[in-house]
Amino acid sequence: MSKQKLQPEQNRPTLAQLQEQIDPARLPRHVAIIMDGNGRWAKLHGFKDRIHGHRAGVKAVRHVVTACGELGIRVLTLYAFSKENWNRSKREITALMALLRHYLRGQLPELQKKNVRFVASGSLDDLPPATRRVLDDIIAKTAKNTGLVLNMALSYGSRTEIVDATKKILRDFQAARITEQDLTPERFATYLYHPELGNPDLLIRTSGEMRISNFLLWQIAYTEIYVTKTLWPDFRKADLIEALIAYQKRERRFGKV
Ligand code: IPE
Ligand code: IPE
Ligand code: MG
Repeated sequence: MSKQKLQPEQNRPTLAQLQEQIDPARLPRHVAIIMDGNGRWAKLHGFKDRIHGHRAGVKAVRHVVTACGELGIRVLTLYAFSKENWNRSKREITALMALLRHYLRGQLPELQKKNVRFVASGSLDDLPPATRRVLDDIIAKTAKNTGLVLNMALSYGSRTEIVDATKKILRDFQAARITEQDLTPERFATYLYHPELGNPDLLIRTSGEMRISNFLLWQIAYTEIYVTKTLWPDFRKADLIEALIAYQKRERRFGKV
């Protein structure tokens, strides 16, 4: 039994009570989540294999995608697999890629029903061909949807994204499509993977780690950061609402007074 589960939850407000505390007019437009803690969740629940944590993590993804749609969040970016995660064991990587294919195939009808547009950010060419095919399929099939945009960061590294942007700029410079004077931060941002999604207003990291792990370094310049000890597989709508409540208590200044 996990420590989390053993802790009494009686004092926790109900979902309805939590929901009453959020101001629907001041919701973050774009929420990004570093979904961390699957391995620790597996260990806490007595599983030897970390993959059990990843499997439970997929369930949390489904809950949070539904919750974001219901709440009216416009963009949800989920950090699912980093460039650095390729350094994990072959066994874990293979299992994660299989799980990803399984999720993508299984979720297509649900995403269509919920009008979710699926996009992906990262070095997508690194993905195994079978995974890439399923990914391209879901992106194409949901392209016309007009509800929540679900942006899955896969084989994603922010430094690589910035270097990739720089390479595209160099090509445009050589082709005389851009001059040195043209290059402003706003113009630079248009070369990132999905500039149309805009910057996250709120970044959530689960399982307590106070670090960014190469995620959206450019885009989070003025993002509000919220870290919860909840492990990703335990994260549900109530946890999301708690993060939204904390976000709405913040004063965003953007350098002004
Ligand atoms: C996050 O959980 C999922 C991925 C990075 C793919 P972890 O696998 O990092 O779990 P912990 O951090 O070891 O608990
Ligand atoms: C960040 O988690 C990447 C994802 C959630 C996909 P990690 O578990 O890989 O990050 P570190 O190693 O703790 O920084
Ligand atoms: Mg981790």
